[in-house]
Amino acid sequence: MSGDARKTAEGLSYLTGFGNEHASEAVPGALPEGRNSPQRAPLGLYAEQLSGTAFTEPRAHNRRSWLYRIRPSAAHPAFTRTGNGAIRTAPFTETVPDPNRLRWNPLPQPPAGTDFLAGLWTLGGNGDATQRSGMAVHLYHANASMDRVFSDADGELLIVPERGGLLLHTEFGRLHVEPAHVALIPRGVRFRVELLDESARGYVCENYGAPFKLPDLGPIGANGLANPRDFRAPVAAYEDVEGPVEVVNKFCGNLWRATYDHSPLDVVAWHGNHVPYVYDLRRFNVIGTISYDHPDPSVFTVLTSPSDTPGLAGVDFVVFAPRWLVGEDTFRPPYFHRNVMSEYMGLIEGAYDAKAEGFVPGGGSLHNMMSAHGPDRETFDRASAAELRPQKIDDGLAFMFETRWPVTLTPQAAGAEHLQQRYDDVWQGLERHFRG
Ligand SMILES: [Fe+2]
Repeated sequence: MSGDARKTAEGLSYLTGFGNEHASEAVPGALPEGRNSPQRAPLGLYAEQLSGTAFTEPRAHNRRSWLYRIRPSAAHPAFTRTGNGAIRTAPFTETVPDPNRLRWNPLPQPPAGTDFLAGLWTLGGNGDATQRSGMAVHLYHANASMDRVFSDADGELLIVPERGGLLLHTEFGRLHVEPAHVALIPRGVRFRVELLDESARGYVCENYGAPFKLPDLGPIGANGLANPRDFRAPVAAYEDVEGPVEVVNKFCGNLWRATYDHSPLDVVAWHGNHVPYVYDLRRFNVIGTISYDHPDPSVFTVLTSPSDTPGLAGVDFVVFAPRWLVGEDTFRPPYFHRNVMSEYMGLIEGAYDAKAEGFVPGGGSLHNMMSAHGPDRETFDRASAAELRPQKIDDGLAFMFETRWPVTLTPQAAGAEHLQQRYDDVWQGLERHFRG
């Protein structure tokens, strides 16, 4: 929370591009030339590969990085179990899947001294982390910086801040992420979270499945939606710290800890494409109708985690960014629908155009498989009667984690005090207008 940290965060350099091979060295000459694992790596460093996909996956999907570090990751003592706090992991079996529409207010204030890891609170999810399938929805609310290091073997972490800036210290370097930006920490990458404000609040999608990628564009063409050059990876930066450092590892649903005798954020140089990154959601190039109706919300997909079935995502990350509505003779808010996919929605700022009230920044809603939802009565009445002029929607930033399987709640989410009790009421009073 120091001014120095924010100054550092705002002065960071980045490498741009998505999924391509990046290379960076914090000390000139630290990257070996011509080979990944020379007999003696430069500057006395250790060479180590971090594989995010199987060695043999097709080149277009393959994710791996080479790290040149002060000590190899293998140099660590045994991990022992530690408390999982409010973090839960798939398979989620403690409650039965709920077909009801559900909505939560923001997480309550945490006790003083709660860091990002202690502040993680699992809402629910699906799949099975040990099978590397499915996802979890977490929220976080923290008021202290981490003085420990975390890594998640179970999946990649898409961090969606709603309140408070974060400086992420990762093995690959530092990332600055503010509300309206997202950050991705790949599976297995160690990091710690420094808070840039008094507190920090937001959402996390833990993706157990295939790494997020940019969606294909089809007839949209070679540009649009999230453009690759707007993704930013860190430049190499390392900690040369000798002394006790607590490292927490999430593995198959449990947290394990060990005390290292050095910081594992000691990578002096690296190259590869299994890298953390940040993305500014305001850079999303929104595609929409210029005639009538509007496309399905899949057109707002920022990132997708593909499954074995073409077009069927384990989870999509979708943003409802500022945009113009110009459709003629069109009901312009999101239409009423039932969806085989399950939708968790959150709000980063402002308001969402399908809900008049009750869906607040930091809160969230869950519309599970085939649950009927859409605009509330007030929104329906207003949109049905509106004079259809070009209209700018620019007072909110909502997002969705849309997943192929129903989201089963944790008991803490099903019984939370901040679970709204009368969400169904927003669809009350949708009167009969039939004149048959
Ligand atoms: Fe929906």
